[in-house]
Amino acid sequence: MSENILICPVCGKPLENSLEKEKNVRKCVSGHSFDIAKDNYVNLLVRSGTENAGDNKEMALSRKNFLSKDYYKPLADVVGDLLVTADTETVLDICCGEGYYTSQLTKRKKCDFYGFDISKEMVRLAAKRRCGAEFFAANLTDIPVRSCSVDFAFHLFAPFDKYEFYRVMKKGGTLVTVIPGREHLLGLKEVLYENIYYNDESVTDAGEFTLADRIRVRASISIDNKEDIASLFKMTPYYYSTPRSGIEKLERTEKLETPIEFVLLVYKK
Ligand SMILES: C[S@@+](CC[C@H](N)C(=O)[O-])C[C@H]1O[C@@H](n2cnc3c(N)ncnc32)[C@H](O)[C@@H]1O
Ligand SMILES: [Zn+2]
Repeated sequence: MSENILICPVCGKPLENSLEKEKNVRKCVSGHSFDIAKDNYVNLLVRSGTENAGDNKEMALSRKNFLSKDYYKPLADVVGDLLVTADTETVLDICCGEGYYTSQLTKRKKCDFYGFDISKEMVRLAAKRRCGAEFFAANLTDIPVRSCSVDFAFHLFAPFDKYEFYRVMKKGGTLVTVIPGREHLLGLKEVLYENIYYNDESVTDAGEFTLADRIRVRASISIDNKEDIASLFKMTPYYYSTPRSGIEKLERTEKLETPIEFVLLVYKK
């Protein structure tokens, strides 16, 4: 076990482990105190306006339902393969969502795992997985983690902050991020839209990180029940931009076959 990497979001000093008599709070050495929710995650969000930020309960449950059926396991497996070969003690899941990928990776290697998200609903579901990781609510623009303390981080389908991610990584550490591949969810788009477009694979500006590898993951999935089809739809950006006619067509769809395609970008600090 390496030293705990969490710091106080108010003063930046280390967070101490809870004492037996203070099971429901984490305190920093200056005495700032943060609640541990009953599902066993710590709320380190301090800025007002973040109370209901991030994905809501419906989106969180849809994501949990869909991912728990292992439709995206090919992606989790490749991130796990990268973790297994990396020299690492401390792993951070940036914007962990409901914790599917964190829990998959904890099965691959013994490390200190941490995961955070700005949505308390997401963090709550992640903590309920009881996978051995330490979960906390936080904003990716201000991660309450010591500078240069993370060996391996992964960041899937969430906003990218090149300065903050660079700050938390150890020198030589690995950050894995993902962009949707050209044909990702093409089968879903064929149901929703008249005119189909392919995803643009352009890479986000990663600042001072060096791109060490680019790995394509491709598979085909078949979803044969309406509940999972609806869950998939609710966890995509198409949920916000589909005409009524497309939604109705999807509601009538009994079976969906689609390619899934991801491009993993492996960055080094
Ligand atoms: C599309 S989901 C991906 C979740 C998870 N990585 C996965 O692949 O299942 C995006 C996540 O980013 C979170 N998020 C959005 N903005 C954030 C921010 N500023 N700080 C932390 N998390 C954020 C959302 O709450 C949501 O859980
Ligand atoms: Zn403090």
